[in-house]
Amino acid sequence: MPIYLDHAATTPVRPEVLEAMLPLLGGTFGNPSSAHAFGRAAREALDDAHERLARAVGADAREIVFTSGGTEATNLAVKGAAWAGRPRGHRLVTTAVEHHATHHTLRYLEKFGFEVVEVGVDRYGRVDPDDVERALTDRTTLVSIILGNNEVGTLEPVLEIAERVRARRGVLLHVDAVQAAPWTEFSVDSLGADLVSLAAHKAEGPKGVGALWIRRGTHLLAQQHGGGQERHRRAGTENVAGAVGMARAFELRAAERAELLPRVRAQRDRLAAAVVASGLVELTGHPVDRLPHIASFVARGMEGGSVALALDLEGIAISTGSACASGSTEVSHVLTAMGYPNDEARGQLRISLGRTTTDAEVDAACRVVPDVLARVAEGSPIAEVAGAPGAS
Ligand SMILES: Cc1ncc(COP(=O)(O)O)c(C=O)c1O
Repeated sequence: MPIYLDHAATTPVRPEVLEAMLPLLGGTFGNPSSAHAFGRAAREALDDAHERLARAVGADAREIVFTSGGTEATNLAVKGAAWAGRPRGHRLVTTAVEHHATHHTLRYLEKFGFEVVEVGVDRYGRVDPDDVERALTDRTTLVSIILGNNEVGTLEPVLEIAERVRARRGVLLHVDAVQAAPWTEFSVDSLGADLVSLAAHKAEGPKGVGALWIRRGTHLLAQQHGGGQERHRRAGTENVAGAVGMARAFELRAAERAELLPRVRAQRDRLAAAVVASGLVELTGHPVDRLPHIASFVARGMEGGSVALALDLEGIAISTGSACASGSTEVSHVLTAMGYPNDEARGQLRISLGRTTTDAEVDAACRVVPDVLARVAEGSPIAEVAGAPGAS
């Protein structure tokens, strides 16, 4: 059985979530906007999903807008806030280590005359809140920052940044919590933000569903037009089963974080230590202030893709960084921003654990990963690795 250590890319849907979703894919199929009994049953399920997700993330149900995922939530937050603030200013502040959902959305807005300022990071991928403060001007309308980095796991000092943003009137703060929300003691309100992006599939919910939390009273322009769904903030017939699945996934996660986080952190630390002990990699990201499920490295003198491929042949699934960027020959903009030269950044590896990762899987990875690294470092052809003992 292959070992899945790429939970930062996506997670399997857990049985309780599937169970909650199935009735909505079967008998309760109505359109929540229909007035008849079929529609009312679907509306009830959707309203309940708003309530449950809101409770799980410390919000009010009316502040939740379901979307097609983290990317759409971030597009709505960034474009919606930028256009709503346009009469007051055109300056948008972000960091150099955002997910492409934020990074490319802001690049797009530049074409319409918005000025985008990217604040740099240190060697660990951390932003200095004072640098964010210095980037704020009277024309700034939005700050957008990632909470936990999806490539290197570093946690950003969002609370300190929120304090600085709050001190300025009229600047909204968007936090991309897509990767971090399932893996931190989390409530949207306590972040001090106005907008928070979430996705179901990082928390053992279904893919293609997410949510944007919009603090009550925040002015945002809708980015998808049509019907009046989601309180006129996101048109289109709702993905009721997806919303129900997401709410259930976050509800379960909220109840188990206290037990889960230390357990997975210990497994991750054990695996990271075994990989570092090979002497062939350097840990990337912050050594302490990081998401508990991500171990990230650069492998010296190697292509991350070759290591990932060799591990895949050994039955271990990891990635070279962001799932969206794998397959691309470009080095990670995150590692570049952290000061890694191209030849080092090419060795990027990300191993990410999940709730379902077992100690036996970690034991196997502790043996196989250093072994594969050694063979790739020696330049052994992939075919030889595939035929090596333990290959499946
Ligand atoms: C930090 C971060 N933001 C945004 C996204 C995009 O979310 P989705 O895949 O749901 O569109 C991801 C997913 O990889 C992510 O890790």
